[in-house]
Amino acid sequence: MSLTLDSVNLTYPDGDSRLTALDDVSLHVSAGEFVAVTGPSGSGKSSLLAVAGTLITPDSGRVEIAGVDAGPLSSAARDRLRLESIGFVFQQANLLASLTALDQLLLVADLRGDDKAAARTRASELLERVGLANKAHRRPARLSGGERQRVNVARALMGSPALLLVDEPTSALDRDRGEAIVTLLAEVTREQNLATLMVTHDLAHVHLTDRVVHVHDGRLVDSPEPVPAA
Ligand SMILES: Nc1ncnc2c1ncn2[C@@H]1O[C@H](COP(=O)(O)OP(=O)(O)OP(=O)(O)O)[C@@H](O)[C@H]1O
Ligand SMILES: [Mg+2]
Repeated sequence: MSLTLDSVNLTYPDGDSRLTALDDVSLHVSAGEFVAVTGPSGSGKSSLLAVAGTLITPDSGRVEIAGVDAGPLSSAARDRLRLESIGFVFQQANLLASLTALDQLLLVADLRGDDKAAARTRASELLERVGLANKAHRRPARLSGGERQRVNVARALMGSPALLLVDEPTSALDRDRGEAIVTLLAEVTREQNLATLMVTHDLAHVHLTDRVVHVHDGRLVDSPEPVPAA
């Protein structure tokens, strides 16, 4: 189970012309591999995740997830692919205020149509895995920022994804809590044999990943752009 992007191009409408967000991007992330994506603001990192997650269809190029070519899929089939194969973790936890931690996870199982008893067991196991077994019945308002992000990770894993897409998971957290979240992502990537792509503009935690790719003006480059001398 892996992710392959092959010669992907993406543009957005920009007045009378088009803005190039991704320029001939090719990238492979293997199962069990944790890859960081860095680059300046506006370089195309979130666009790369959106294409990898089939949220946006590129102008050209191929996106293959867990062996499935996403290009020819209908929008219903793409929704199903996302539910069955992709977990998303965003900067803000995006949890529903009215639901407990446990219920946030059970909602995913409900959307998937999973067996309820099996879903409860899996949700409890995942909350235990992220260190929140004793807070399963708390709503987001009674969880810390780091704990909310842990619920977010557990929720992303609820559907047993092949691919985990993570955008700036630490930017709302202090350094130690950020390090703890990235450590957790590294561990679950290995334990569950995920292909994990994590966008971060902060290089502090990239030592926990297997590999770093740099994005500049929509292109993948070998090394970060040199910072101009002051
Ligand atoms: N929906 C959109 N419509 C038009 N242009 C967009 C859209 N989303 C992003 N862009 C533009 O595409 C380029 C890449 O944006 P993207 O969000 O992928 O950057 P990023 O690397 O994630 O930046 P940041 O670090 O600030 O989150 C930017 O120039 C941005 O202004
Ligand atoms: Mg972004």
